[in-house]
Amino acid sequence: MFWMPSGHLWIPVLISCIFVSLHTGSLTFWDLNFKLKNMKADIKDLSDIIVFVDEFYIKVKNDEVLGPVFNNVIQDWGPHLDKMYKFWNAALFGVPGFKGNPFARHAPLPIGADHFNRWLDLFKSTIDEHFEGPIALDAKNRAKLMAAMFLSRLQNMRGSSDRVIV
Ligand code: HEM
Repeated sequence: MFWMPSGHLWIPVLISCIFVSLHTGSLTFWDLNFKLKNMKADIKDLSDIIVFVDEFYIKVKNDEVLGPVFNNVIQDWGPHLDKMYKFWNAALFGVPGFKGNPFARHAPLPIGADHFNRWLDLFKSTIDEHFEGPIALDAKNRAKLMAAMFLSRLQNMRGSSDRVIV
């Protein structure tokens, strides 16, 4: 027969059960509490895109590898940021509005594998600082795919043997 604690004895029994079950799988109550408090939300709409795009390009502008490339081409950041909001809104949520020709814009730039690796590092860390979930992962994967595609087309175009990025 299943034993049922009498009176109010079930309260400490219940607490002990929760405590023991939280410890199984090496997850303590304190870990769980910490995890819940530090859980980030996923990218949900344009307002979140604005957060990561703005922050990413602040890092880019001040980066010693990428800064000079961008600052040479972009005098007014407003239209570029606006274009990138639309680009990510189309890529992540299928919202039309982005008009452009990304590869043609990158083709004349003096960029190679080191630039793309740095770009991806900054992009990934910016997303990870603010968001987590399937859309955040999708953004990082898409950026990685596009960077690989740009780099491979640039290498073909230039006939160079630049290192392949991972
Ligand atoms: C080596 C790394 C990169 C550098 C240095 C770079 C630099 C630039 C610059 C300077 C522009 C502005 C071009 C202009 O207005 O004439 C631009 C535009 C753009 N970039 Fe990048 N970029 C890099 C990687 C990427 C990656 C990986 C993506 C994709 C996720 C991306 C997406 C775009 C888009 C969508 C535009 C707007 C294109 C358009 O106006 O049609 N870039 N980039």
